[in-house]
Amino acid sequence: PPDTESHTVSGGVRTGTRAAIDAPHLRTDRWWLAPAATAAGLLAFIVYSTWRAFADTDYYAAPYVSPFYSPCLAERCAPMRHGPNWELFGSWWAISPAIIILIFPLGFRLTCYYYRKAYYRGFWASPPACAVAEPHKKYTGETRFPLILQNIHRYFFYAAIVVAGILTYDTVLSFRNEKYEWGHMGLGTLVFLVNIVLIWAYTISCHSCRHIVGGKLRHFSKHPVRYKAWQFVGKLNARHMLLAWASLVSVALADFYVFLVASGAFDDPRFF
Ligand code: FES
Repeated sequence: PPDTESHTVSGGVRTGTRAAIDAPHLRTDRWWLAPAATAAGLLAFIVYSTWRAFADTDYYAAPYVSPFYSPCLAERCAPMRHGPNWELFGSWWAISPAIIILIFPLGFRLTCYYYRKAYYRGFWASPPACAVAEPHKKYTGETRFPLILQNIHRYFFYAAIVVAGILTYDTVLSFRNEKYEWGHMGLGTLVFLVNIVLIWAYTISCHSCRHIVGGKLRHFSKHPVRYKAWQFVGKLNARHMLLAWASLVSVALADFYVFLVASGAFDDPRFF
């Protein structure tokens, strides 16, 4: 008889309502490659970003500020007087100022539909791949704490728009030289330009954005502007995974570039 009890409570794949197949799975390809590569990539970023976020040093080399530290909201960011530096947190704030703002891009990516799939597969094996049973006995999806919090993704999307706006401002400021004179450009300016394009492309390709732009409409014909915008976002949305990775790499590279210049390991080549 169907195991209705465990079906509703656990819903795992070994319940009586599912086919009784003994093999863990019937896939013959290297299905583990994608989740393993995903986990390795995410782990590398987590290690790098944790080091940089807590380093509390080498995040500003005029006119560049690391995207991990922008906007800098603590008094201790004083050296970057000419950047996005608003001292909302006074001298009592003793740890790295990156911690104040990283919660927003971190929350945006953690609750992102693509990253959810990536880390559920890569780290939790829930499930590890299509047609490969998960090892867990229970499955409650995102219906309970803490995973129910994934539903606040839309609010992180709003915050991500603000963050992308501030990084755009930083990119504009990078068209100065180290004396803060306008009309200059260095290799760092190019690094920032590529990064901000990818950050915007990733942000706008968000599933929540797609719904905000084109959702809850009965007739697209009566909303031609939203229809066009929805088509545009839809095209980007189809590349969401690619943009998630590209912008993750570019934001780390932009930070690393600032680190190299700020620490004196590399001189920013100036074009004019
Ligand atoms: Fe990925 Fe919104 S779904 S950022």
